[in-house]
Amino acid sequence: EEPIADLLDRLAAVVPDYPRPGISFKDLTPVFADAEGLKRIVDEVIAPFAGRFDVIAGLEARGFVLAAAGAYAAGTGMVTLRKKGKLPREVHAEDYLLEYGTATLELHRDDIAPGTRVLLLDDVLATGGTVGAAVRLVERAGAEVVGIGVVLELDGLGGRQKLAPHEVHALQRV
Ligand code: PRP
Ligand code: MG
Repeated sequence: EEPIADLLDRLAAVVPDYPRPGISFKDLTPVFADAEGLKRIVDEVIAPFAGRFDVIAGLEARGFVLAAAGAYAAGTGMVTLRKKGKLPREVHAEDYLLEYGTATLELHRDDIAPGTRVLLLDDVLATGGTVGAAVRLVERAGAEVVGIGVVLELDGLGGRQKLAPHEVHALQRV
């Protein structure tokens, strides 16, 4: 079977100078669009945590793709962690730092019961700001983050260190 890193190199689209000159952006949409690509990344992103989670939480927006497919494959439910103002009922809210300014991630207070074992999925781990807010939301619900799965981890931005001691698995570090 093709190693997952080779599959990502074959299917992901590298966009030079996006979003800024000098940055080389790895776009995963062609991986999602490919039947084998979607199946492989979803299966492999949840595999390290098999049997250890009750629900998968996805981070808006690109984490939703992985979380919904992963939850369906694992036979669990899926929880949406959304950007500010999108959820209609009572929420927990956590701010996080962006390169310029801040953003807010929200969780419906009753979407995760206390004691639930939660797997967090997102497409990319960079500084860890986004996933850090997600961890705090799950913990404010009285639930437990059992792990964090991402497709790409951008090395050198401190994300993994920021999230320690939480278990982080990335399919590829770039
Ligand atoms: C991107 C990416 C991760 C986050 C990683 O999301 O999808 O969620 O940045 O960065 P961090 O580790 O430094 O927080 P973005 O905020 O661009 O939004 P989107 O997923 O809605 O496109
Ligand atoms: Mg995102």
